[in-house]
Amino acid sequence: MRHIKLIMIGLLAGLLLAACGTPAAEQATGAGTTQVMTVYKSPTCGCCTDWVSYVEEHGYTVTVEEVPNIAPIKAEHKVPTSMQSCHTAILDGYVIEGHVPVADIERLLAERPDVVGIAVPGMPLGSPGMEVDGVDPQPFDVVTFDAAGTTEVFSSYHQ
Ligand code: CU
Ligand code: CU
Repeated sequence: MRHIKLIMIGLLAGLLLAACGTPAAEQATGAGTTQVMTVYKSPTCGCCTDWVSYVEEHGYTVTVEEVPNIAPIKAEHKVPTSMQSCHTAILDGYVIEGHVPVADIERLLAERPDVVGIAVPGMPLGSPGMEVDGVDPQPFDVVTFDAAGTTEVFSSYHQ
C-alpha cells in the first residue's frame, strides 16, 4: 500500500510539473518592503497562480509577467539549475524562486544576507501553492544561493 501511495504521489507531482514546465530542464504592503513583487511564470502554470494568491493574501502586491519560456529569466537572474522551480519572483533586489513560504521572504528582507536569493527547488507537495487535498506534505528546505552558485539551507520544513 505504501508503495502504491508513493507511486501515486510521484505521478501527481509529475502531472503538476508537466503543467508548469519542467524546472530541471528549464506597492507591496508585505511586512518587509514597500516594493512590488514581480513574478515570472508560464501562462499554463496553475500552482504559480496559487502561490501568487498566497503572497497577495499576506499583503504583497504582485505584478505577474507571463512568459512562454521561463529559462532565460532564470539564467538572467542567476538561479542555479539545482535551485530551479516553476516561477521566479523578484522583490527588493532579491530573487525568490519557487514555492517559498512568506515567513522566509520576511526573514530575507529583515536580515538582508549577501545572496542573490532564496529558493524552494522543485515543487514539493505541501509547500505554499502546492497543497493537494488528501496528500501528505513532503519535507522541503528553503535554500539561499549566491552569484557563485554557492547554496546554503536557510530553513527546513519537515512536517
Ligand atoms: Cu509550482
Ligand atoms: Cu510556480
